[in-house]
Amino acid sequence: MQLSENMQGLFAILFLCFVTSPCLCARTLTTQANPTFNILNFGAKGNGQDDDSQAFLKAWGAVCNATQGIPTLFIPKGKTFMLQPLVFQGPCKPSTINFKIEGTITAPRSVNAWKWPDSHRDSWIQFSYINGLSITGRSLIDGQGAPWWDCFAKSRCERPMALSFHSCENLQLSGVTQINSPGGHVKVYASNGTRISDMHLVSPKDSPNTDGLHISASSNVAVENSTTEVGDDCIAILGGTSFVNISGIYCGPGHGISIGSLGGNGVHATVEEIHVKNCTFTRSSSGARIKTREGGSGYVRKITYEDIVLVEVQSPILIVQNYGSLLPIDAGQAVKVSDITYRNFRGTASFDSAIQLICDKVIGCSNVVLDQIQITSSVPGKKTNATCLNAHGTSSSSNVPQIPCLLK
Ligand SMILES: *[C@@H]1O[C@H](CO)[C@@H](O)[C@H](O)[C@H]1NC(C)=O
Ligand SMILES: *[C@@H]1O[C@H](CO)[C@@H](O)[C@H](O)[C@H]1NC(C)=O
Ligand SMILES: *[C@@H]1O[C@H](CO)[C@@H](O)[C@H](O)[C@H]1NC(C)=O
Ligand SMILES: *[C@@H]1O[C@H](CO)[C@@H](O)[C@H](O)[C@H]1NC(C)=O
Ligand SMILES: *[C@@H]1O[C@H](CO)[C@@H](O)[C@H](O)[C@H]1NC(C)=O
Ligand SMILES: *[C@@H]1O[C@H](CO)[C@@H](O)[C@H](O)[C@H]1NC(C)=O
Repeated sequence: MQLSENMQGLFAILFLCFVTSPCLCARTLTTQANPTFNILNFGAKGNGQDDDSQAFLKAWGAVCNATQGIPTLFIPKGKTFMLQPLVFQGPCKPSTINFKIEGTITAPRSVNAWKWPDSHRDSWIQFSYINGLSITGRSLIDGQGAPWWDCFAKSRCERPMALSFHSCENLQLSGVTQINSPGGHVKVYASNGTRISDMHLVSPKDSPNTDGLHISASSNVAVENSTTEVGDDCIAILGGTSFVNISGIYCGPGHGISIGSLGGNGVHATVEEIHVKNCTFTRSSSGARIKTREGGSGYVRKITYEDIVLVEVQSPILIVQNYGSLLPIDAGQAVKVSDITYRNFRGTASFDSAIQLICDKVIGCSNVVLDQIQITSSVPGKKTNATCLNAHGTSSSSNVPQIPCLLK
């Protein structure tokens, strides 16, 4: 039997270290015991045409049931794997699992080619009930969204999310480029302890409702150093979410980094401790946006947006407590909005009304603080201004535009 060069090297090291240092050797062996499961060894073709779903699920079974070390599911580069909708289901035996994606993953190319399992239709690739999952690699995941957008335009057909994470504790997601999602790109739901970095989410500007990242019912989330160029919210934070840090995000085109909309259909929704820092918005329709719907209850509180750069953003700062409502704003039932700070915003707005704080007459918005705001108009000769309705808080006198409408 021919040993590969690697194997020969490994044996040489093992032999040497047994002779010289049995302790160190035991450690080397433990490291070597972290098994790698290459998707090609499970029957994946990687030709971009054949359905590789079963191979992925088989490999997942092996990884999820691995009893030794930290297993890695490896998707090699230079190949394109076509996957039908599928679920990587936990709980798994290992407390940490690596998913290393170097290759390309693609969805079926037409709406009719998607084969749905009976269990769900809401996402293409779903990860459920997995602890310590770490997805890394320089990969491309292509949701083949274009036929879905047509289908949506013609017959409002319901579109799946591309990637969704459901009840995943200590999830890490980094280095993935995701393009052309049918619906939203990435959804994190009911998950505690998520770290997302170096993601690049891309869809055309006019693709309908293709949110970048959706976070709901989740706590302790960090999103760093990522770019989202999508048709809708770059990041949307929804009900039940708390303790989220977002920094180093380039957003645009898109609708900004949004909280909400919350409280639709009279539901109780809570969002708190969301901190957005060092982000750049370029030609997005909004920047820092909070949307709640009339008739809901609950709160949005302890939110900061700071060190924000704006390039021709339509409405950089926006609170709307009656989003999507045509009723007069005095229903007296709304999601409470309080302790909202905007600090150090610099750049340009393409609409005059750069700051809009539109709140319910009875509930109002309280302790809205604006400090070190310098937002000028990107249209020569125009000036930016601020609009308020029932908004209470403080604004520094040096802010541009001035915000005299803010009530003490
Ligand atoms: C792990 O093994 C068990 C028992 O063989 C099996 O029922 C389960 O489906 C496996 N897990 C996965 C994710 O395949
Ligand atoms: C989230 O994880 C942290 C750290 O492990 C833990 O202290 C906290 O209780 C968890 N929160 C929830 C809601 O599970
Ligand atoms: C968010 O930032 C705060 C302050 O820097 C830090 O204490 C906290 O641990 C961070 N949370 C996460 C989930 O990274
Ligand atoms: C994000 O970028 C900052 C600044 O370059 C760096 O300090 C930080 O470590 C990065 N975060 C991650 C998770 O890579
Ligand atoms: C802000 O984010 C950008 C983009 O990720 C990064 O290059 C820069 O180092 C960050 N600045 C700070 C002060 O963290
Ligand atoms: C803001 O500017 C626009 C255009 O100049 C004007 O129509 C509007 O009334 C202004 N709003 C306020 C609150 O000054």
